Amino acid sequence: MATSQSTTGEPTPGEPDLGKPDSGKPVLGKEPEATRSPSSGAPSDAFLSVRDLRVHFSTEDGIVKAVDGLSFDVEKGRTLGIVGESGSGKSVSSLSILGLHNPERTTIEGSIRFDGNELLSMPERKLRDLRGRRISMIFQDPLTALSPFYTVGEQIAETYRRHMGANRHDAHARAIEMLDRVGIPQPKVRVNDYPHHFSGGMRQRAMIAMSLVCDPDLLIADEPTTALDVTVQAQILDLLRDLQDEFGAAIVFITHDLGVIASMAHDVLVMYAGRSVEKGTVREVLKTPTHPYTWGLLSSMPNLTGDVDVPLRPVRGTPPSLLDPPSGCPFHPRCDHAAVVGGDRCATERPVISLVDGRGAACHLAAQDKERIFLDEVRPRLG
Ligand SMILES: Nc1ncnc2c1ncn2[C@@H]1O[C@H](COP(=O)(O)OP(=O)(O)O)[C@@H](O)[C@H]1O
Ligand code: SF4
Ligand SMILES: [Mg+2]
Repeated sequence: MATSQSTTGEPTPGEPDLGKPDSGKPVLGKEPEATRSPSSGAPSDAFLSVRDLRVHFSTEDGIVKAVDGLSFDVEKGRTLGIVGESGSGKSVSSLSILGLHNPERTTIEGSIRFDGNELLSMPERKLRDLRGRRISMIFQDPLTALSPFYTVGEQIAETYRRHMGANRHDAHARAIEMLDRVGIPQPKVRVNDYPHHFSGGMRQRAMIAMSLVCDPDLLIADEPTTALDVTVQAQILDLLRDLQDEFGAAIVFITHDLGVIASMAHDVLVMYAGRSVEKGTVREVLKTPTHPYTWGLLSSMPNLTGDVDVPLRPVRGTPPSLLDPPSGCPFHPRCDHAAVVGGDRCATERPVISLVDGRGAACHLAAQDKERIFLDEVRPRLG
């Protein structure tokens, strides 16, 4: 099924329409939305289509179910934000797309289709060619991607030469062009610097330059601004938005910060214990969230409208161990609403996410209960 790129009725990243919820009564999960493919179950022909991904690690302590049935789609020119607490499986999912797990200790099941090709069964040689050229990644720590032994320019140029077959002269010129593009001052001089000559923000810009040098179709950014101070973070986010406009790539943007999602993404997937618990457009999920975990995340972040009078409430309890995840709904030990569902259903029955036009949540609460709780308890907390 073809998917639509229409952004009708959606916020533009960078200009989120995410202030206080409308004074009118929201209809949870039913905002008007352009047609999108379902993101679970049925296969799709989306540019990147992940279906029922399971990534389990064998460890001395047992099997870590880091990702346990994850599905999503991303189209070119669109940004999917994946948000969740530390340890929810965000990085493990993104490393699976790049085929970077150690096959001896890892069981990977499901499907990851990129531009019509199945990545999970692709030979390593072909995958290596895709990595860096058509799919690239920006990590939280640029020092994991940049070698201390080569100049920044050599590293960017080498990526370009290897994948695009350019000669040294052209690759060097391309490295300068990319450093300029990501806002490094005096790029003709700085191209000869080593990574340790750059500040943290500059290194992150250099890594972005390296990841975009071959004009990739898919960019995975894993907490790319988490290590940076707030001002530099804002500059890097601005830069990534501009670059997406220019390059038109599909972007998977991973973060633990819903505020960053609000300014960067078109669509959002909320992850908990290796699964997706809520999905929709950024507007839908941040304005009318329907999963208790998303309510918790929103209540624990500074108000998007900047209202400092509303106290922050961290999600109570701690994220579960993925060695021995809770039965039923994995959020049930931390959820304040299991009693509304009644009986022991939340503790015994795993809720599945059912999507209507790409929108939905994995929770047993009835629609009217969700709406009541959201209006009476959650929305007042959000200010
Ligand atoms: N190579 C590995 N071996 C065993 N467990 C791992 C490995 N990599 C990650 N994990 C575990 O998988 C879970 C998800 O990790 P990760 O995807 O890094 O979380 P995050 O959402 O913070 O990016 C965590 O419990 C982590 O400890
Ligand atoms: S299924 Fe039950 S425990 Fe899980 S989020 Fe919904 S109400 Fe809470
Ligand atoms: Mg991570």
